[in-house]
Amino acid sequence: MSLTFNTVGVIGAGTMGAGIAQVAAQAGCRVKLFDAREGAAAAANAKTADTLNALAAKGKITAEAAAATISRLSAAPDLADFHDCDLVVEAIVENLDAKRTLFKSLEGICAPTTVLATNTSSISITAIAAGLARPENVVGMHFFNPAPLMALVEVVMGQQTAPAVAERAEAACAEWKKTAVRCKSTPGFIVNRVARPYYGEAFRVLEAGGADVPTIDLVLRDVGAFKLGTFELLDLIGLDVNLMVTKSVWNAYYQDSRFRPSLTQEEMVAGGLLGRKSGRGFYTYPVEPATPAPSPAAGTAPTMVQYLTESDALDPLIERIKAAGIKVQSRKEDDPYGAGMLRTGNATICLTDGRTATQIAFEEDLTNVLTLDLARDFATTKRVALAKGEDTTTSAVADAVALFKALGVEVTMVGDVPGMIVARTVAMLANEAADAVLQGVADAAGVDTAMKLGVSYPEGPLAAADRYGLTLMNAVLVNMQAHTGDDRYRQSLLLQRKMWSDGSFT
Ligand code: NAI
Repeated sequence: MSLTFNTVGVIGAGTMGAGIAQVAAQAGCRVKLFDAREGAAAAANAKTADTLNALAAKGKITAEAAAATISRLSAAPDLADFHDCDLVVEAIVENLDAKRTLFKSLEGICAPTTVLATNTSSISITAIAAGLARPENVVGMHFFNPAPLMALVEVVMGQQTAPAVAERAEAACAEWKKTAVRCKSTPGFIVNRVARPYYGEAFRVLEAGGADVPTIDLVLRDVGAFKLGTFELLDLIGLDVNLMVTKSVWNAYYQDSRFRPSLTQEEMVAGGLLGRKSGRGFYTYPVEPATPAPSPAAGTAPTMVQYLTESDALDPLIERIKAAGIKVQSRKEDDPYGAGMLRTGNATICLTDGRTATQIAFEEDLTNVLTLDLARDFATTKRVALAKGEDTTTSAVADAVALFKALGVEVTMVGDVPGMIVARTVAMLANEAADAVLQGVADAAGVDTAMKLGVSYPEGPLAAADRYGLTLMNAVLVNMQAHTGDDRYRQSLLLQRKMWSDGSFT
């Protein structure tokens, strides 16, 4: 098989370097691994050999494949040994001067055609290449941890990166069974930038008393269909590591409020509550299986609901209500609200548009309002989240709960915070993704692919926004900005343009 790069040098035998070396060797490349620490490269290769042999013993790979991969891995005694490498990937300490010095040395050792790739997650590719004789040879190949398992590689173009160099990096990714997404060197590239609201919004709900940690995680998982809630994910990543990324992106964007870190997180890091690795973060490990709070008391199951809406966002829920044998009286023309509204018993249930239930009741002159958080799929969701307004009666809450009980859907009550939990999160993810596209960081398909593969989102944020409706996404942001006075909710120009033109991202 002919490969784009036959001989690959990897520098830095830590978590990422060892993983990248394994990936390249498994694809058939001869790999030389080097580390400034004496013996580190050989030790990393030995550990990789153990991993491969264990996989072979379990039947996940053949013994021949394991042996062949191990035979292709070697430890380089010094940098001079990289003279015959077609590609060098550096995964050393995250420090600009160290990376520049290293690439300068490599230019004196490697052929002029050798591609110099950096696995940096936060340093500008343009800055790393500055001052080199051949800056056009420098490209970002940003792998995700653990490199052998994560499918995504962001192939990052610096200002001077030659397109042909990026194309070769992409060809190698394909041979290495990775999905490459091309992007421009900007702070956080795609994933570390677009994912910021997933943390930021959960912290704001927590700090505003909207819900506690396990409830926010539960709603993001069960209602939003995210694989992990924000806080369990933070415990896994490490609160310190995540805070460092947040601060680096925030500072790089001149402290734009979109990326503002959370004081709660800062305080926890200061206290050494770092997550799983320190035994305690938002949860204490080993974690006790949490029992979600039972749905609140339900009233009598309804026999009829009124559906008042101009939007079709709640149509799948209406179908479910009909399938449960409950009569639906559709009065679309009477909708005083816009985003989707139901009446059951005494309760008026409004799909959240970024306003609180109390605010909707006041502004629309309605009584007994509850807001309903956006579910990823109302046709199948097993849980919904509701918030009641200040003046909403207990019996209205019971009527709303009774409707969902009749559908076999659990109800989680959350505080009356704007945008609830899922709606504000998906609107902000879409907003950030839209801005990344607007600024030419990557195209819409690239952003969506990166978010699905890099952070395992169930759906790309832009495809999700198209499905939820751009008018609703925009309304959530507009109302949250008005409610909080926080500029972080300002709407991306591209999101607005697509909405006004009835367009879509996908
Ligand atoms: P690590 O600390 O596990 O490994 C770094 C290795 O580089 C160490 O073994 C160290 O001895 C060696 N090293 C440091 N300076 C060196 C030099 N001048 N020459 C040769 N070897 C040197 O670090 P990790 O986590 O593997 O990160 C490496 C790079 O990958 C960083 O740029 C980091 O930002 C990036 N990255 C890290 C990810 C992660 O989740 N850990 C994910 C994606 C990128």
